[in-house]
Amino acid sequence: MVDMATIVSLCKQRGFIFQGSEIYGGIGSAWDYGPLGVELKNNLKKLWWKSMTSRLDIVGLDSAILMHPRVWEASGHVEGFQDPLVDCKSCKHRFKADQVSGKKCPDCGGDLTDLRMFNLMFKTHVGPVEDSASLVYLRPETAQGIYVNFENVYTSMRKKVPFGIAQIGKAFRNEITPGNFIFRTREFEQMEMQYFVKPSEADKWFDKWKEIRFNWYKDEIGLGESRLRFHQHDAKELAHYAKVAFDIQYEFPIGWQEIEGIHHRSDYDLRRHQEYSNKSLEYFDEATKEKFIPYVIETSEGCDRTMLAIMIDAYHEEEVKGETRVVLRLNKSLAPIKIAVLPLSKKDDLIAVCKKVVESLQHRYVVEFNISGSIGKRYRRQDEIGTPYCVTVDFESLSDQKATVRDRDSMKQDRVELSQLKNYFLERF
Ligand code: GAP
Repeated sequence: MVDMATIVSLCKQRGFIFQGSEIYGGIGSAWDYGPLGVELKNNLKKLWWKSMTSRLDIVGLDSAILMHPRVWEASGHVEGFQDPLVDCKSCKHRFKADQVSGKKCPDCGGDLTDLRMFNLMFKTHVGPVEDSASLVYLRPETAQGIYVNFENVYTSMRKKVPFGIAQIGKAFRNEITPGNFIFRTREFEQMEMQYFVKPSEADKWFDKWKEIRFNWYKDEIGLGESRLRFHQHDAKELAHYAKVAFDIQYEFPIGWQEIEGIHHRSDYDLRRHQEYSNKSLEYFDEATKEKFIPYVIETSEGCDRTMLAIMIDAYHEEEVKGETRVVLRLNKSLAPIKIAVLPLSKKDDLIAVCKKVVESLQHRYVVEFNISGSIGKRYRRQDEIGTPYCVTVDFESLSDQKATVRDRDSMKQDRVELSQLKNYFLERF
């Protein structure tokens, strides 16, 4: 398996992901998505959004990051979203308590402070006065924006249980030990869906969503099945809101790790919001004339973690004619650039043909036009960024009105009439 350093280097060299604020020496665990990274990430988000909101029983939402501070008291995060930590008195390094054995610093051997609890929520203030009345938190999960809008959504959209609300957005956690590139950061994006069900149907829907979500990684994202598995949380791992929880894990170079959590949250969140807001969040079932607080099945994917899994899974090195070819075998729907158009030389008449080809394709696909370097080098660059097809215009193109289309994975080349290129790609994407 490829190591993390190789992926980090490729991401930087090829414009996927840069260290945040790099010219100032960087800021711990913040990363910026470059031109190719943002295309790939947007493609991932589009796929997820479509997989959720194309269902008749799921609608979307985009709620605010800043929420009323009572939300986080009701959700249990003020009280329960904390890690025990210790500090080294000499080197000042900070550790999660479960990462140190004994009373000495693992880095310098210095004495450690007593254990204390550290809340992972970032705090800030609204308005010009920084007092406790103006305190707000940056949301540590997007889910709460969905719960507080439960009643708004189901009445305005006339939804009937079971139904779901999907949301993509940033979340923030002041992690004690961020690291491993974009695996654990302090600012990240979540793609969460909360599915509201009758309490008696919660177990059935939990099993269904487990299956749907596992298949999504395998079939839609194209991650290798042998590197995917479920992990059930034991009592110690369960979050304060969860009754039962399974992670979908991917086998990263750092071992098996969570990319998505699937949680049976019972009526914990809606009940607590009802209590703290004094607003009824009961649902009235017209068919049975029953009133109840729905149970919630949550699917919570980390967008950045999935990006990392995608890059690792797609990365391949292979021997071609005595040389190493690096190729990102990304799913075509995820690839940041779909087609590269390459003139064999910088001659004006070849460039003119290329420009026409670009114009005919760029309405539908993200296309790159690249004239610098040998054609071999240009193919290698496109392989490394996962471009599924290269269209090469050569001198013969001027007379036969055809171009060579090269397939990223098989490296097979087809000679295709310029007028047929649109159809050729329609069949393949
Ligand atoms: N609403 C439920 C929830 O937030 P979680 O298991 O804490 O559940 C869900 O987080 C997903 O969010 C994780 O599976 C992971 O992919 C992502 N995630 C959580 N913390 C992260 C962090 N510090 N950096 C990057 N991704 C993170």
